[in-house]
Amino acid sequence: MVKEDKIASIADLASFCKKNGFVFQSGEIYGGLAGFWDYGPLGAELRNNIKSLWWGAFVRKREDVVGIDGAIITHPMVWKASGHVDSFTDPLVDCLKCKERHRADNMLEDVGVENADALSIERMDELIQKKKIKCPKCKGDLGNVRRYNLMFRTQVGPVESESSISYLRPETAQLIFSNFQFVQKINRMKLPFGIAQIGRSFRNEISPRNFLFRDREFEQMEIEFFVHPDEYNKCPFMDEVNELVLNAYSSENQLKKQKMKKIALKELVKKKIMKANWQAYWIAKQYYWFIELGVSPDNLRVRQHLPDEKSHYALDTWDIEYQFPFGWKELQGIANRTTFDMTQHMKYSKKDLQYFDEETGKKVVPYVVAEPSQGVERAFLVFITDSYRKENSGTKDERVVLKLHPKLSPIKIAVFPLLKNDDNLVKKSREIFNELREHFETFYDSSGSIGRRYRRMDEVGTPYCITVDHKTIEDNTVTVRDRDSMEQMRVKTDELVNYLRELLSGKIKFSK
Ligand code: GLY
Repeated sequence: MVKEDKIASIADLASFCKKNGFVFQSGEIYGGLAGFWDYGPLGAELRNNIKSLWWGAFVRKREDVVGIDGAIITHPMVWKASGHVDSFTDPLVDCLKCKERHRADNMLEDVGVENADALSIERMDELIQKKKIKCPKCKGDLGNVRRYNLMFRTQVGPVESESSISYLRPETAQLIFSNFQFVQKINRMKLPFGIAQIGRSFRNEISPRNFLFRDREFEQMEIEFFVHPDEYNKCPFMDEVNELVLNAYSSENQLKKQKMKKIALKELVKKKIMKANWQAYWIAKQYYWFIELGVSPDNLRVRQHLPDEKSHYALDTWDIEYQFPFGWKELQGIANRTTFDMTQHMKYSKKDLQYFDEETGKKVVPYVVAEPSQGVERAFLVFITDSYRKENSGTKDERVVLKLHPKLSPIKIAVFPLLKNDDNLVKKSREIFNELREHFETFYDSSGSIGRRYRRMDEVGTPYCITVDHKTIEDNTVTVRDRDSMEQMRVKTDELVNYLRELLSGKIKFSK
């Protein structure tokens, strides 16, 4: 009987990622810079796999979504129009003694106040007094809570003045809105359709925490899905998603202190708990994406934002949440942004950005019924957390294995000569390695015992290892070893590429 332990804490996850070259603290040789992370060789591969799988599923394979790649710094009026200059804030509180700055809502949540980020500044002040909260660093008294803007300001050009100030983008979404009309007209897109973008965003978080979960530089994968304002309930694809059964935590359940419910998506739509069926469709599509990439549905849920928790632009927002070692946390938000953003950009740019509906001959302001928005880093954390196992079968033969979906694995295939000092085995292994790397991310390793080489590959999620031994020289077969079952079988070298391709794509299963 194999005992399986999951990752126990975010600190364990961070040390696992560092040990295996996935993620390092940025600037660590100088003490590190809080909220910034660098990705090592395997981390870079995993990030690229996440992004290309997302782009493949939601852009390349869809006729109704096109992609853009906008600038990180854009005209500052974009951020005035979007509301970020005035409203993109977190509650900040200073320690009057040591001057350390803290996020007031986090401090309240740490003492059991639920959804503290939805409270007014005045209420936070009252609760800090009532609960006698002191500075976590020096136990000094705290000042009054105030709003702190999260955008990184920068200067554009050599002359410092008010008009040269712009911002590193805090979300990719606004580049989609400000380019909506060019994309729609030039690509002859008809409503309903979406525009997607993957790119870096920046938020000067007061207290970055939980490793990659809340960082200051991150990469978003976002879609803005535009519909005719009268047609937010006319999704023609509901049959694809109706049967999805998921853990759902509506705002009503939360307010009544009830538990989340296992419920079919079609029920959530029928009971109007999810109010726009296009939004329900996008929630389901994003949820399926995680499940199809191997994430356990038991660790996922959808949670509706409480009325006073929603962002300034949103009518209804649902988060897909994951059960992390530090609790259920947002993995992805799917907001219904209505016509808010396009209306704001029309007002501030004084341009008519409406969509011309050829059928009715009328212009309409495009309505964003769903904005699936997530950070690559949170997906990264989820895929590692969910696939990590420490297996112990009672002997000293313990192993750590990342049971990553093969499409996500940074290395797909490893090739080993049985003995590193045998010229024939090394020559044959290099030949096989060179052929395989034309097709897959392949890694060559000749150091240490075969057992240790398998363990190293298990730990970074490599699904298949190939061992070249004396029999290979005689009959042109190699050993293929499966990460999850640890079983092995012999395969002819001239069938290897096709065989591995079928295994990796899921067309066939590994079996002896
Ligand atoms: N665009 C939504 C967000 O950045 O949270």
